[in-house]
Amino acid sequence: LTIVCGLAAVAGSAWLIAAPGSLPAILLLIAAALGFAVTMVLPIGGADAPVVISLLNAATGIAVALAGFVLDEPVLIIGGGLVGASGSILTKLMADAMNRSIPAIMLGGFGPGDAQPAASAAGARVRTVTVDDVAIQLAYADRVVIVPGYGLAAAQAQHELAALASQLDQHGVQVGYAIHPVAGRMPGHMDVLLAEANVPYPQLLNLEQANQALPRADVALVVGANDVTNPAARRPGNPVSGMPILDVDRAQQVVVIKRSLGHGYAGIDNELYSNPRTGMLFSDAKQALTDLLAALRAYLPAA
Ligand code: TAP
Repeated sequence: LTIVCGLAAVAGSAWLIAAPGSLPAILLLIAAALGFAVTMVLPIGGADAPVVISLLNAATGIAVALAGFVLDEPVLIIGGGLVGASGSILTKLMADAMNRSIPAIMLGGFGPGDAQPAASAAGARVRTVTVDDVAIQLAYADRVVIVPGYGLAAAQAQHELAALASQLDQHGVQVGYAIHPVAGRMPGHMDVLLAEANVPYPQLLNLEQANQALPRADVALVVGANDVTNPAARRPGNPVSGMPILDVDRAQQVVVIKRSLGHGYAGIDNELYSNPRTGMLFSDAKQALTDLLAALRAYLPAA
């Protein structure tokens, strides 16, 4: 269907060039282009979708710039050029962050499915922990790595998280924030969120720095992050395969704050949750962090 729509779009273009202004040719071209766009993008799912969105944004800019040449309108050329160029750079950066090539994303929509069935988090046994358990773990830790994700943004809990980290910091716990390049729903989402809560910039760790710090961390505290921590990415054949992940499962202890065993953006189970070292604190992120801060204050009297 994609190929038929693509050929129809080319035929519509040729018809329009041969007969400029022909209404049926324009209608054919519009219908074919719409059909092509839908059938091309529909099969692309999981973690690849943000790259496609960015690529389509870049294409919009290029189309506007080309329209500027046709209409002899410098403002359109400059504006479209800026959107097209910045969108293209962003697409390349995001594809690199996901360890994918752009053609592989555009053409790789028809995957074979998961090569090995994932340990279903929903069916697997998970260990739940209480706020007090986590507060004690944090109070006795030397190094804590915090992994923020989309759930932190959804809960608007960045200020509570920053207060908790600062409390730990004041008591000599070494705190770092592991920032995955596609954590959240927009490029730079986590950086902006944490900057808003005045998190000290030196505490932000990029993927490489975080993966060096995680095996030495006493506690990895995952707050509303899911796909960016999924060990399934190390195996082929699933929607996050090949995506570089934060090696949260290599920390000594893992605590995950989220409301349920629900999926993330990629729509697959996370094997981290059934790891024996992982404790699940099922709660809204804002509520959990508020309770955690109160409990932690009881174990760590004000400095
Ligand atoms: P996700 O994998 O999307 O997981 C977010 C998790 O947050 C969900 O599993 C959800 O679980 C939890 N959550 C939602 N609301 C919550 C709340 N109020 N309190 C606590 N937890 C809450 O997030 P991620 O790990 O940040 O990964 C990002 C994903 O988005 C990647 O797949 C990425 O490719 C994609 N994406 C990224 C971008 C960019 S550029 N950053 C753009 C578009 C898409 P519960 O429902 O169980 O609470």
